[in-house]
Amino acid sequence: MTAPSPSSSPPPAEAVTPLVRGVAVLTALTEAGGTLSASALERSTGLARSTVDRITATLARMGYVRLDGRDAVLTPRVMELGNAYLSALRLPSLLDGEADALADELDESVSLAVADRDGIRFIHQATRRRAMSVSFRIGDLLPAERTAPGPLFAAEWTDADWSAWHTRRAADPTDAGFPAVPPRTPTAPTDFESRAAQARQNGWSLDDQLIEPGLVAVSAPVRAPVRASAPTSAPTSASARIACVASVVSHTSRHTAADLRETLLPRLRTTVAAMERRLREAAPPEPGPTPAGLATWTTASKHELGRDFVESLARGLTVLTAFGEGRSSLTLTDVAKATGLARATARRALITYEHLGLMAAEDRRFTLTPRVLSLGYPPLSRTTLAHLAAPHLRALADRLHEPTALAVLVPGTDPAEIQYVAVAAAGRVLTVDITVGTRLPATRTALGRALLHAAPHGYALADEELESGLRSIAVPVRDRTGHPVAALNVATHAARRTLDNFLTEVLPHLRATADHIQSDLHLASRFTHVPLA
Ligand code: PHB
Repeated sequence: MTAPSPSSSPPPAEAVTPLVRGVAVLTALTEAGGTLSASALERSTGLARSTVDRITATLARMGYVRLDGRDAVLTPRVMELGNAYLSALRLPSLLDGEADALADELDESVSLAVADRDGIRFIHQATRRRAMSVSFRIGDLLPAERTAPGPLFAAEWTDADWSAWHTRRAADPTDAGFPAVPPRTPTAPTDFESRAAQARQNGWSLDDQLIEPGLVAVSAPVRAPVRASAPTSAPTSASARIACVASVVSHTSRHTAADLRETLLPRLRTTVAAMERRLREAAPPEPGPTPAGLATWTTASKHELGRDFVESLARGLTVLTAFGEGRSSLTLTDVAKATGLARATARRALITYEHLGLMAAEDRRFTLTPRVLSLGYPPLSRTTLAHLAAPHLRALADRLHEPTALAVLVPGTDPAEIQYVAVAAAGRVLTVDITVGTRLPATRTALGRALLHAAPHGYALADEELESGLRSIAVPVRDRTGHPVAALNVATHAARRTLDNFLTEVLPHLRATADHIQSDLHLASRFTHVPLA
């Protein structure tokens, strides 16, 4: 496989400049935690202000960012890029369940990581919430030598890989290229080569506070099954390629590193054996549907936004979404077909991505690299339903000049209660004023009824029942399985709108907003757990 070339080398002549710039903007937003002003984007990307504006306008049109005053803010929709990589990889859908079960059994965090050049990148996190725990996010990149998984991957490095690692260490003495970890002391000694040799012998590896004081981890490799095409005298398991590394992460207040190895490593190994069995027994992936009509969509946007729509950026980004489960390795022809792009356009996008290290090419087939997760995934993998719904609530309240709210059922309440988790006020003097956290009896509110008796395409009304003059209409918000997890409402004073007006003027907007929230939730929860609030 051709190693992804570092993006610091000059782009090939055929590279699509707007796509290179769009990727730079998405990466800068990701590293900043999801939000940057236009001037901060100018500074961090080195692009001119007019370029930044056109790129963010295009990303906004694609639904990947939201423009909020001067700020560009990443939206959950951008997770479709990382989702394309994670579904194509297939490891999360096959192994997340085992990782989560181990975290529950041990009451410690468990992660899955893949190799990303001389770093490791997380593809799953089963995180415990407690005071003494560091938790990385899906998509975070760590320097291999400061982690437990790193030596296991490095055990398979070639001389060229080692020399690339030495070059990177010398060029970046503080690990500035790894924003997820605290800076390294440039003088700190490293015994990485011997740790890698040890890891190869042991089949496990430890991190005794290399990232930061208190943080300890133990790791074991999950090896990919040897394919049927391999000779019958199958290589021993030790020679099968490492698909990913599973780790148990703890804190010295609970476990020393030695203690992790003695007490938790055996249980980690049992899980790894079960993971390897799953990989062996998994049925071949079913190719999912390819996204439809992308090229048509970009042409329509060009008509609408004119000069501000950077068509080659939009077309280039759609190329990433051609990948997915059962579509992990695609030819140029496959990509052109899936996206509806001209071959020449698709080809230039593929060349650009290979240059940026976002794709690898082998025998004329392209695959996404873990670096695709650097396009928005880490900050968004920690979102909540309340958080992702908030801008949609705001837009609805502004459009209708009525307050809107999102509520969930409070678990274990009998009679059932609802709790408000997000609200947007109408900005009127006389308005229904309910704050986040408020609890109400479910059966007396439209929100509660929409949650309790959610029928397909149904809505619920509460007409002056909770309070005279208060009229409320609500619809359910469903998770990926179709289960109603929240309800969205618009409330008004009965004197402002007739019931008829409520149904004809408000309900369609309410439904459209619920659909937007739902589609964000479905994208965000594909590979991460999205708490309600
Ligand atoms: C590590 O310190 O090596 C480490 C930290 C967090 C993880 C895995 C490994 O999830």
